Amino acid sequence: MLDHPLAAAELSVLRAKETAPNEFRAALRRLAVFLFVEAARTWETRDVKRQSPLQEFSGSEMARPLALVPILRAGLGLQEGMMPLVPDASTGHIGLYRDPTTLRPVKYFCRLPENLADTQVLVLDPMLATGQSAAEAVSMVKEAGATRVQFICVLACPPGLAEMQRAHPDVPIITAAIDPILNDHGYIVPGLGDAGDRYFGTR
Ligand code: URA
Repeated sequence: MLDHPLAAAELSVLRAKETAPNEFRAALRRLAVFLFVEAARTWETRDVKRQSPLQEFSGSEMARPLALVPILRAGLGLQEGMMPLVPDASTGHIGLYRDPTTLRPVKYFCRLPENLADTQVLVLDPMLATGQSAAEAVSMVKEAGATRVQFICVLACPPGLAEMQRAHPDVPIITAAIDPILNDHGYIVPGLGDAGDRYFGTR
């Protein structure tokens, strides 16, 4: 779990119900940077030799290409925050909506980068609620060949974490906080409400 005072302050902005959509968008993008840096902590690098203005030095570069895979819609907020740090990353999109009765994910869109086998893949969704959309999205990137997958969210809750552990125990989860409750409507409590509606100003 992310442990940083600046990230905690951004999360409080996101949670507050009076935060307007423009502030919400800015805070989510800033928090995405902290989550991204935390995820990257474990990535492999390779050694490179380069020349400074004064002499040769030993440096490093990332060993693998990167793909960001936001789950539509709200995952776009995390992708937009991360992209300036890694302008060479490719982006895939996964569209899943939750059937309001069963709360099961229904796939309506999938377009992923090619050659994911040796790519670091970040699946992005601000809310890890029931975990079913997250697990489905990770299955989709694995079916497309991904072997190195991390899941990044802003808030997780125990049922979501348990579902991901059951379905994809190999996939690390990076989150800014874990909230205690998933209510009967599939919302995380205290949470931040509907992340997509708040990011896009649709409610
Ligand atoms: N999706 C959201 O946007 N919010 C929640 O609390 C749960 C799922």
